[in-house]
Amino acid sequence: MAKIVYFLWILVFIQLCRCEAFEQGKGKLGGHGYFHRRINGPGFFHLQKGDLHINVTNWGATLVSLTLPDAKGHIADVALGYDSLASYMNVSSTRPYLGAILGRVSNRVKNAQFMLNGETYHLPKNDGNNTLHGGLRGFDNVLWKVKEYRGGRRPSVKFTYHSFDGEQGFPGDLDVSVTYTISGDMELRLDYEAIPRNKATPVSLTNHAYWNLAGHNSGRDILDNSVKIWASHYTPTDDHLIPTGQILPVKGTPLDFRKETIVGSRINKVKSNEKPPGFDNNYVLDGPKLKNGLKPAARMKDPWSSRVMEVWSTAPGMQFYTSNNLKDTVGKGGFLYKPHTALCFETQGFPNAVNQPNFPSVIVKPGQIYRQTMLYKFSVDKY
Ligand SMILES: *[C@@H]1O[C@H](CO)[C@@H](O)[C@H](O)[C@H]1NC(C)=O
Ligand SMILES: *[C@@H]1O[C@H](CO)[C@@H](O)[C@H](O)[C@H]1NC(C)=O
Ligand SMILES: *[C@@H]1O[C@H](CO)[C@@H](O)[C@H](O)[C@H]1NC(C)=O
Repeated sequence: MAKIVYFLWILVFIQLCRCEAFEQGKGKLGGHGYFHRRINGPGFFHLQKGDLHINVTNWGATLVSLTLPDAKGHIADVALGYDSLASYMNVSSTRPYLGAILGRVSNRVKNAQFMLNGETYHLPKNDGNNTLHGGLRGFDNVLWKVKEYRGGRRPSVKFTYHSFDGEQGFPGDLDVSVTYTISGDMELRLDYEAIPRNKATPVSLTNHAYWNLAGHNSGRDILDNSVKIWASHYTPTDDHLIPTGQILPVKGTPLDFRKETIVGSRINKVKSNEKPPGFDNNYVLDGPKLKNGLKPAARMKDPWSSRVMEVWSTAPGMQFYTSNNLKDTVGKGGFLYKPHTALCFETQGFPNAVNQPNFPSVIVKPGQIYRQTMLYKFSVDKY
């Protein structure tokens, strides 16, 4: 009996030690299986497979860095981010949401309100009269729990968040998870899940990574990058980036990226109120669907490093954004991020879908599960 008690104490002790290490954000990936206990504070988590390294934090379930070699073996970190957790915790309404998960509803909601099942729900106004990226304090600016952290052939980290009934004005309790997985050589996959517990609610999650394939600190902008977007339609907007409800062809407009096109060749032709102007548009994704539901959404190529990134997604829409509003944001290593430093491909439900009955619905009811996947594939283009 005494032996058993002694043995149990040793087990408890080992478990405590392991959690301690994770709580300090120093957990080493050793392929030792699951990590079950809940983490108390924010930390950084590292995933690696071959030459691909990613760093994420459970503050906002945010992608902090992604490093990989180019054709000549030069390593660069191609995702914009900050050095400190304090910067990620900034709740300024003009924060750029670098690398963060956006929710409960990404993008804009007109007049910060919507009606569902006969009730009007009011959200915070954090973008003029509208709501942007889930409100003043969306999923990008809350602490997520670390549910699993594993190494091995498919290294992954799973973050969970319980969003309470009424949080930022949204109806019902909602359990959300986001899993980052290095799912293949040079492949990062994000799996989203959300389960409404008691009320129907809109859900539209995305990741707001900012990509500069020459390196976040290369000092190069993205104007010479070429982009292809698998979309023949887009959703035009008013002056505050709220969709008018129309779905129009991109053909004959500066938004047509069906053929690979250099971003800078078009950027001054696009209708934009941002200063400097640039792309900030939602596309209707219509690439060919694979068996697993993923469709090609976009491809970007940086001619300087020859790095290429493909974005695949299960979502109906994608905001293509040329980081027009970055204004000397102090990034990693003290580097200043300027307008057009990076490209964003936010695959999502359509903006303001909650108020636009002709858009694909973003409502999830109790008994249903919201599931979406995003996949980033990296390669080098050898000329
Ligand atoms: C992850 O990023 C943070 C913030 O930039 C940094 O302090 C930490 O050292 C990084 N960890 C790894 C393993 O790269
Ligand atoms: C918070 O973000 C705003 C907007 O990006 C920026 O102007 C401000 O300097 C940031 N504050 C801190 C403490 O980082
Ligand atoms: C917000 O709405 C009010 C009332 O309609 C209007 O007067 C005001 O100009 C609007 N503000 C913005 C930034 O659009």
